[in-house]
Amino acid sequence: MDKLTWYGHGAVGLELGGHQVLVDPFLGGNPAASITPDKVPANFILISHGHGDHVGDAIAIAKRTGATIISNFEIANWCQSQGAPSTHAQHLGGGFKHPFGYVKLTLALHGSGLPDGSYGGNPCGFLITTPRNKIYLACDTGLFGDMQLIGDEVVDVATLPIGDNFTMGPADALRAVKLIRPTHVIPLHYSTWDLIKQDANAWAKDVEAQTKTKAHVLKPGESFALG
Ligand code: NI
Ligand code: MN
Repeated sequence: MDKLTWYGHGAVGLELGGHQVLVDPFLGGNPAASITPDKVPANFILISHGHGDHVGDAIAIAKRTGATIISNFEIANWCQSQGAPSTHAQHLGGGFKHPFGYVKLTLALHGSGLPDGSYGGNPCGFLITTPRNKIYLACDTGLFGDMQLIGDEVVDVATLPIGDNFTMGPADALRAVKLIRPTHVIPLHYSTWDLIKQDANAWAKDVEAQTKTKAHVLKPGESFALG
């Protein structure tokens, strides 16, 4: 059974057809993390942008597990220079069929500077198509109208940031749900610190009152079963 596990903040573990796909693995130094970098499973690591709360422990985890890092060209090259054993570079709008599914890099309105000041290219989200599911991970972004185009692909499960300050807040994330029209939505990137503290249950109520989407509020470490 495929599943999505929230590890806290923007970190997500996807189990897809027996493959472990780790997204934005900020675990060490993450006060909300439900798992440590030395324990988390990974065959593939997706990195949405260069910020430290997303690159996180990716290099150490890749070295330990041998996982392939998938990111934009600039971040993939940077990871290689840091000693990552295997990388796969893509870029915005481009898709590639990986063993766990077809991954397309989608737009994101955000920054992408790497922790050491290196240029991290453009930030992205991920649209993952498996034989069973279409999953949209918005990652760090503000609201943008072309989320409508992503919704046109018929999304089963979307993850959206609701923390505000660095990304969309609850009001814009609700507008995003209306554009994307997913069957299920899961809020992320909130309440890691007081600066992005949000009431996810109140947001979920608004989503279900105003749209046909089902909202699922997870605690760090909890999983959502994918169809
Ligand atoms: Ni960021
Ligand atoms: Mn972030």
